[in-house]
Amino acid sequence: MAEVKPEAKPPAGLRNVVAGESGISSIDGQRGVLAYRGIDIHALAERSSFEEVVYLLHHGVLPTRAQLEELRVTLVRERPIPAGVVDLRRALPAGTHPMTALRTAVSALGAFDPDANDDGEAARKRKAVRLIAQMATLVAAVDRLRHGAAPVPPDPGLGHAANFLFMLTGSPPSAVAARAMDVALVLHADHEFNASTFAARVAASTLADIHGAITAALATLKGPLHGGANEAVMKMLEEVQEPDKAEGWIRDAFAQKRKIMGFGHAVYRTEDPRATHLRRLSREISEAAGDRRFYDLSERVEAAVKSQKGLYVNVDFYSASLYRTLGIPTDLFTPVFAVSRIAGWTAHVLEQLGNNRLIRPESEYTGPRDVAYVPVERR
Ligand code: COA
Repeated sequence: MAEVKPEAKPPAGLRNVVAGESGISSIDGQRGVLAYRGIDIHALAERSSFEEVVYLLHHGVLPTRAQLEELRVTLVRERPIPAGVVDLRRALPAGTHPMTALRTAVSALGAFDPDANDDGEAARKRKAVRLIAQMATLVAAVDRLRHGAAPVPPDPGLGHAANFLFMLTGSPPSAVAARAMDVALVLHADHEFNASTFAARVAASTLADIHGAITAALATLKGPLHGGANEAVMKMLEEVQEPDKAEGWIRDAFAQKRKIMGFGHAVYRTEDPRATHLRRLSREISEAAGDRRFYDLSERVEAAVKSQKGLYVNVDFYSASLYRTLGIPTDLFTPVFAVSRIAGWTAHVLEQLGNNRLIRPESEYTGPRDVAYVPVERR
């Protein structure tokens, strides 16, 4: 067969390349629209819950009351994590970044899973739901263990978001905090072929196991150009310190050609629709807590970046001040992203395996050709 070679140079970072088909979520970057299974993110943020979104992403439609209850019961039952994984976290050095610990723990979970040696369709689906339930428990445990505290066992009476905050802090969250966390989980649950989801699909396409695919996704999420940006936003806000310093700080950062974390997007050319809700939640939680410091600072940084460079905030910008006000430690922001995105990652892995073909693109070779081999003594 004749070799087919693309005529144009591949775009840097594969921007605007459609790399596969998916029926899970869609983005219109020009209009700032995100939908899960065709349902607009604004409707889901206002009216849905994380559990409902998990069902939607996995099954393609909203659940009936009975289906939602069945999923809720399964998620509660699957929350505990094996003692061996807790011991593994204890064995890691004290200063291990929570994302590194989480990536390691999820890889280990694969070995402890009751379906470890079964990669059939039914077992894959069980493992997917189990991973969603366990991710929240793991993130809370990873945080507590590094401070020498014992993990807080899950409370079966609490929903996924409220239970996560409970396991993290040891006390039940207020209704306002639980709802804010729930909406944040809804907003982060899926985002089409982002870098970590694509990494998960590439791994799954080799027929690697689901824990391996999610480990690849976690490794990819950690980077500051992807999920790590929310942590970087908080560090920036701490550097800026005061609202009145925002304008000058941003001007200096642009002059030094620094990337401003939490701004810009590979797909959106207008405001990220998730940011609209996160800005509102951040303001509401700050007002409820009587501490608007990081919200006010964020507003001023946003205004400065918009006026100086015309860049819009993305999902990571206001999640930083929101999580901070919810009492979540800064280096746990990216793991919190994973608590939600595990819903999308697993949906994508199941979709990939439902109609699999090994993902194996080609590269355009730019190195030298026909180079003679020189023996080591003549080099
Ligand atoms: N700070 C400063 N400049 C930025 C910027 C930012 N956050 N985001 C984009 N730009 C600049 C780019 O450098 C580029 O400038 P150039 O044309 O002079 O090279 C221009 O704006 C257009 O960039 P664009 O093509 O729209 O973005 P991208 O697809 O190359 O990059 C990101 C997308 C997300 C990697 C980029 O916006 C970024 O690094 N943002 C900060 C990290 C972040 O918040 N990541 C989370 C994403 S949800």
